[in-house]
Amino acid sequence: LNNGVARTPPMGWNSWNTFGCNISETLIRQMADAIASSGMRDRGYQYVVVDDCWFNPNRDSAGNLQGDPTRFPSGMKALGDYIHGKGLKFGIYQVPVDKTCAQYFGSYPGATGSQGHEAQDARQFAAWGVDYLKYDWCSPNGTINDQVATFAKMRDALAATGRPIVYSINPNSIHEKTGPLRNWSDVANMWRTTEDITNAWDTGQTNGYPMGIQNIVNVNVPLAPYAGPGGFNDPDMMEVGRSGLTDTEQRSHFALWSIMAAPLIAGNDIRAASAATLAILNNADLIAINQDSLAVQATQVSNDGTRRVLAKRLANGDVAVALFNQGGSTTTISTTAAAIGKTGSSFTLRDLWTGATSSSTGAISASVPAHGTAVYRVSGGGTSTPPASFRLRGEASGRC
Ligand code: GLA
Repeated sequence: LNNGVARTPPMGWNSWNTFGCNISETLIRQMADAIASSGMRDRGYQYVVVDDCWFNPNRDSAGNLQGDPTRFPSGMKALGDYIHGKGLKFGIYQVPVDKTCAQYFGSYPGATGSQGHEAQDARQFAAWGVDYLKYDWCSPNGTINDQVATFAKMRDALAATGRPIVYSINPNSIHEKTGPLRNWSDVANMWRTTEDITNAWDTGQTNGYPMGIQNIVNVNVPLAPYAGPGGFNDPDMMEVGRSGLTDTEQRSHFALWSIMAAPLIAGNDIRAASAATLAILNNADLIAINQDSLAVQATQVSNDGTRRVLAKRLANGDVAVALFNQGGSTTTISTTAAAIGKTGSSFTLRDLWTGATSSSTGAISASVPAHGTAVYRVSGGGTSTPPASFRLRGEASGRC
């Protein structure tokens, strides 16, 4: 979406994965403090997103949305001011159709969707200082055309406020899966491509609820051509720093989200984040890959079911490459500089986990533990023009 924001994938934190409906202004303020003091803010994490369950289930007499008076007694504008005072940006959750997912499943009362109130609600969000709207379908009904029309209405209402607001949509909640069916880059800055993530490696789902890391990667990788400046595939908020994944799996998760140009939205309790968790979330080399100004998503170089190789072209001609072991035991994964779009015979490989550099005449190879991902930044040599099928949005004439 060409609305001036999200030219690279949005970075931030969202309350849902860890806290669900157990949110309050105290919690969100503490999290903003922790994002600032943990070094995450300085690495680029900026959107503090309050997910479902922030609202009063009744609009006021003028039809305006209101914050939950118990959870957010100071009001949503005050929360936005606090977040802005920390040098961060304010995100909020809403749905178009009458019920949010928590309302639909009965864990929160009321029905407060924006349908028919788009302009009023967009103005309200802008008045509160909202910088990011997560707009979640959350209805079993509606065709793909209904979804396009409905999401576009809020897109236009946000634009009419004149405030730059990242527009994050979820066409997938409790609904026929639309991720692979449509490129949403004309409608939103980011769009969920799967059902909800959970803190597990593999739930066996192909695109049902809930999804493990491996399952989401399988759906999200082929959608690479949809990604570009202003619009990104969203494989959901991260599970880094939560239980359920090994350290190796958490590093893989972060490396894969980084190279897939996914929005990097942390979902853990930042107040309690360990040094090991912060070392993953704050990995400057991987963040640089994710935030590269070319803003393309890695394309698949090869996948034999166990060994999967992804490569992401970068603005300065370097290429990032991930060697992902989907199998259950350590294995060697190999590719070549030519296979990832480099020409020449002399390259430098920087290991983005250790920072170590090595030279290569073209071989790129690593011994990778089960569920692990080795990731390198390959520099040197030239770049070959990608075949048309590898050309991404905004690259009509090939490599930029
Ligand atoms: C859906 C979304 C989640 C979260 C919940 C809130 O399930 O996919 O990310 O926003 O709704 O109820």
